[in-house]
Amino acid sequence: MTRPTHINIDLGALRHNAVLTRSLAGNRKVSAAVKGDAYGHGMTQCAQVLAEYANGLAVAFCEEASQLLDAGFDCTINILEGPFDKDDATFIANNRLETVIHSPAQLDLLVSAGLQADSMVWLKIDTGMHRLGLAGADLETLLRQLERSGHRRTGLMSHLGDAESPESPMTKMQIQRWRATVETHSLPTSLLNSAGLLESFAVSSDWVRPGILLYGAGGQPDKAEKKFIPVMQLKSSVMAIRRVPAGEFVGYGGRWQAERESRVATVPVGYGDGYPRTAANGTPVLISGQRCPLVGRVSMDMITVDVTDHPSVAVGSSVELWGQHLPVNDVAAKADTIGYELLTRLPDRAARRWIT
Ligand SMILES: Cc1ncc(COP(=O)(O)O)c(C=O)c1O
Repeated sequence: MTRPTHINIDLGALRHNAVLTRSLAGNRKVSAAVKGDAYGHGMTQCAQVLAEYANGLAVAFCEEASQLLDAGFDCTINILEGPFDKDDATFIANNRLETVIHSPAQLDLLVSAGLQADSMVWLKIDTGMHRLGLAGADLETLLRQLERSGHRRTGLMSHLGDAESPESPMTKMQIQRWRATVETHSLPTSLLNSAGLLESFAVSSDWVRPGILLYGAGGQPDKAEKKFIPVMQLKSSVMAIRRVPAGEFVGYGGRWQAERESRVATVPVGYGDGYPRTAANGTPVLISGQRCPLVGRVSMDMITVDVTDHPSVAVGSSVELWGQHLPVNDVAAKADTIGYELLTRLPDRAARRWIT
């Protein structure tokens, strides 16, 4: 017997999104973000598709790059957080990987590890997100240090903290500082993530670094024929239907009380599978293609859904928790989180199936 809860990863949708991203990027080079196990979609499986369309792959740290190397990838791999220690720096230098450097200490590590003169180093500038990056005179100091060491491939990189809001004070400030910095150096640049790419900021970004867009869970362009398709579907089916008299409570803590005689469907998926426990009453669940409201608290292994208005729903009816017919962001919005988090924190409990 098999529990029906599983995750489909549609590699055809990923390919479609990669083609759209490529065309949105125009002449810019694309570094496809596959960090976080390709946002929960399976790093090596997704990288195989994305490497065909992108100019490189981006990971967060060396262990992720190592997985790609072990799987035989020989494309450009960029390490967004750079080396954490001497071993990382040696790994980067020996494998001639691209890396971001956000501090003088990281550059010292790399130079001591024998950085190759033609290995790309991206100097990360703190333009106002204040998470990572070089500030003040550090940029000029590091540029001089690289020049002195005979290094020949350096780029400038930064990250927008509010790219979804091009008019926000933070974005305006970051863009202004970015422009001022890149104008005074004629070096390759890398700024835009998915939202930045969709908003088509008129800024220098020779490389773009999309992630969420590729997985179909970012924004959408204006043109309807150019829609990104969600790559992941979290699926299950109804395991039980209960009649709940008016006035009765459902689930832990009795969070939901039936106002009328109700039919409640139980679905075998819970926070143990990565479905958010914070999902509020009313979070949409797609059953037999119909949006039905979640009622009661999410348990470790089950959720309960009000199907009173959907008499055709029965034991065995198909359920989509999120996917191509129910955007993960619609669920996230009712669970006080974002699609990124839901996608990247799925445990191994529900099997993933990659559909080519
Ligand atoms: C430095 C950096 N670049 C690019 C990305 C990709 O961002 P997005 O998934 O919003 O496109 C991220 C994501 O966290 C990031 O941290």
